[in-house]
Amino acid sequence: MTEVAQAGANRGAARLGGLGTTIFTEMTLLAQRTGAINLGQGFPDEDGPSEAIEAAVAALRGGDNQYAPLSGVPSLRDAILAHQHHYYGLEPEDLLVTFGATEAIASALLGLCDPGDEVLVLEPYYDSYAACIAFAGARRRPMTLRPPEFALNLDELRATAAGARGRAKVLLLNTPHNPTGRVLDARELQAIAQVCIDHDLICVSDEVYEHLVYDGEHIPIASLPGMSERTLTISSIGKSFSFTGWKVGWCSGPAELVAATRKVKQYLTFAGGTPLQHAAAAALALPPVHLTRLRDQLRANRDLLSKGISAAGWQPLPAAGTYFINADVGEEAVAFCAALPDGCGVVAIPTSVFYDDKQAARNLVRFAFCKRPEVIAEAAKRLAA
Ligand SMILES: Cc1ncc(COP(=O)(O)O)c(C=O)c1O
Repeated sequence: MTEVAQAGANRGAARLGGLGTTIFTEMTLLAQRTGAINLGQGFPDEDGPSEAIEAAVAALRGGDNQYAPLSGVPSLRDAILAHQHHYYGLEPEDLLVTFGATEAIASALLGLCDPGDEVLVLEPYYDSYAACIAFAGARRRPMTLRPPEFALNLDELRATAAGARGRAKVLLLNTPHNPTGRVLDARELQAIAQVCIDHDLICVSDEVYEHLVYDGEHIPIASLPGMSERTLTISSIGKSFSFTGWKVGWCSGPAELVAATRKVKQYLTFAGGTPLQHAAAAALALPPVHLTRLRDQLRANRDLLSKGISAAGWQPLPAAGTYFINADVGEEAVAFCAALPDGCGVVAIPTSVFYDDKQAARNLVRFAFCKRPEVIAEAAKRLAA
């Protein structure tokens, strides 16, 4: 590499706050090399509803192959509005279709934060958060969810918000929460809402696992009093319908927040994935049984894997939602995960990679259970053995 290129690469890496190649890529390669069952990365090994796939094929064959409108194709926009109304009684002023929730998160943070701002964020976090906060020239101010319950400490929440007073405009929320599997309850969400109101914060709420809740219920924070006018709600088709590779996402909320997000998205990708936007509209129009069937299957997977973890002598932690369950394996988890594929033919991720405070999750391992039941049964058997 030339000196100029090397310097450029170093600058890029520094801007990412020291984050490197994601561990998921490494672990997937490890799974391929060892033939182990990959419970590291969270993607299903079965496709979603065939009706949606047929809609994608029809859109491809029917000439829906050029740029979509910047804000998304009308059928998908209508379907998202209908979804928000049907499930939560929400009537967002505006919405924007994006390349997955990931682009919505990136565009929102770039559009809403100024360099030097602080962003309040639940730790541990989905890995794109730290990178996108860094891209915006902002800094993360974590509020740590600690095992075994991963409950939000409300005093810490209030103290963190007070500490960031004048420097934070955005609180980045994620519920149901990756990687803990926690679904925040009404009390925690009320407290977050109060903090947002007291400190005049915008809430960017990542709810991609909204339909994957096995215990309790998902409450969108935008549905709480005083929050619809300050919340940008983000979701996508990937998790709810097992089409993670489609990367069709969206955000909805007050017109000014959507406009700030749209301004950035316009120059990141403008618009695209047109046939898949049509297919996502078809998926959202399917009867709710498609969602409940997937949820019930994943709940059964969680229970099966949890039993395998217990049988192995480790402690499964509660996982009320998402694709993930954590286990306390009683020893340092990074070395543990490196040895797991050879030891028992399963790949998993040390949960500490999602924390700034590595000690908070020293002995924790995250397993994904969004695989076919027979794969989960085999993984549980291997763990138990
Ligand atoms: C919390 C969270 N947000 C966003 C995403 C990405 O969503 P999408 O694939 O729609 O970009 C993921 C995927 O793992 C996630 O776990």
